[in-house]
Amino acid sequence: MNFKRYMETLIMVIHPDITNSIVNKRWMTELSKYPNKYEVRHLDQIYPDGNIDVLAEQKLIERYGRIVFQFPYYWFNCPPRFKQWLDEVLTYGWAYGSKSGYKMAGKKIALAISVGIDEAVYRSTAKYKYTLAELTRPFELTFEYVKADYRPLFAYYGIELNSGKEWIERSVPLYMDFLSNLS
Ligand SMILES: Cc1cc2nc3c(=O)[nH]c(=O)nc-3n(C[C@H](O)[C@H](O)[C@H](O)COP(=O)(O)O)c2cc1C
Repeated sequence: MNFKRYMETLIMVIHPDITNSIVNKRWMTELSKYPNKYEVRHLDQIYPDGNIDVLAEQKLIERYGRIVFQFPYYWFNCPPRFKQWLDEVLTYGWAYGSKSGYKMAGKKIALAISVGIDEAVYRSTAKYKYTLAELTRPFELTFEYVKADYRPLFAYYGIELNSGKEWIERSVPLYMDFLSNLS
């Protein structure tokens, strides 16, 4: 076994506009300080033309026991490259559907989402009716379908109204703690 890979967590960042990002960019900067713990990949940067190398992605995923998909919440969903990645990489015979398949089985998978609206608004049944855990059920079901070990998500809220340095910096140790507790 490759011990280094075993120690690492793979962080898949999906953000179509990282240049103007505040939170996700800050998280990436923090993660880059720990190259022995976190391998960070920005999917939109790796595949700017959208041609995902499915075999390369599958081989990479096979090497990690913990994978986090980090993205900003867009229209109560993920940015498009993540959905494309799921559609193309989770193939029959690799992710599910044959005896040798289920290559993601048992892997710890989590979402880490930056959210514009306040947490209290999502919690309030009068306003949006659903929590983020409920709204992300399709991801939970997808990863359960491929027998991965889907973990409760990390979310950092309220960025639309407060993108000040203090609020953003507050998120960094929370996210790092979340990642440490994933192991
Ligand atoms: C196209 C678009 C759609 C968005 N949709 C939502 C949404 O449905 N719910 C929400 O809480 N925030 C929404 N936001 C706010 C983003 O989640 C927020 O700007 C982002 O998490 C900040 O992360 P960043 O600084 O890394 O870009 C949206 C932002 C954009 C640009």
